[in-house]
Amino acid sequence: MTATTALAERSKLTADKVLGASAVFWFLVAVVGQWAFVAYVVSFYGGAALQGNFERWNEVLVGGYVRGGTVGNVVLGAHLLLAVVITVGGPLQLIPWLRARARPFHRWNGRLYILTAIVISLAGLYMVWTRGTAGGPLMRIGISLNGVLILACAVLAWRHAMARRIDVHRRWALRTFVLVSGVWFFRVGLMLWILLNQGPVGIGKDFDGPFVRFWAFGCYLVPLAVLEVYLRARDRSGPPGKLMMAGALFVLAAGVGIGIFDAAMGMWLPRMT
Ligand code: HEM
Repeated sequence: MTATTALAERSKLTADKVLGASAVFWFLVAVVGQWAFVAYVVSFYGGAALQGNFERWNEVLVGGYVRGGTVGNVVLGAHLLLAVVITVGGPLQLIPWLRARARPFHRWNGRLYILTAIVISLAGLYMVWTRGTAGGPLMRIGISLNGVLILACAVLAWRHAMARRIDVHRRWALRTFVLVSGVWFFRVGLMLWILLNQGPVGIGKDFDGPFVRFWAFGCYLVPLAVLEVYLRARDRSGPPGKLMMAGALFVLAAGVGIGIFDAAMGMWLPRMT
């Protein structure tokens, strides 16, 4: 090996390590934020349910609990319960250490994850189009497209795992994870936007302002685009491309971290009693 190729090999290894570290950093920030969201769901919705006070759910929900509307209420309750299952279980699937040392756990948790992604999305679609949600029509269309994309990606991730095409399976599983995180990105991004603008710019009094209409789609399409750029940088770029991606991921992780803090302080903690 010549000195030049040794140097090139070393800079490639360094770039791989830096990119890997930035991805881990992003992931750790996201896990803290997602589990904070779960803590809120368990405490607020679970707490009210345990007291039999389902009407309290409507302090947050727009098309929420309806007295006597049994089918819709069961679907809503299942959606909230599955939100906990999927948000706790999802990140565990992405930890390489667990994947390598606890393969049966990865398989069973994976099956549960895919099944939950499918049922929660179908339940969500039913809820949007029977009871509605905050915001205008674009908000409904935005979250519905999120649900349809989750269904498609979850099925593809499962089919590639069954066919033992592990590399392709991992890509579709990552896409499913990012899409499933859409509702969480929505809240974190919204709070970051309001903080950066020092007020509710573009939100609108009926929650149908320009930013809300953009973010109804952007909350999952933007992270999905970032994931695609990351995968391309990881698998096909040289050291400069990898280092640029690593820098971008560090900045994004910082932004997500601030959004999480703001969402926790402004939306989640005040409702956790
Ligand atoms: C897959 C991951 C998802 C998770 C973890 C999740 C979680 C949640 C949570 C926690 C809530 C309560 C709202 C809050 O307190 O902030 C909620 C409400 C709701 N979700 Fe989901 N959700 C997911 C996907 C979806 C999808 C794909 C749809 C639609 C296709 C959907 C439709 C709804 C609707 C309509 C509500 C009630 C909104 C309202 O009445 O204001 N969800 N979801």
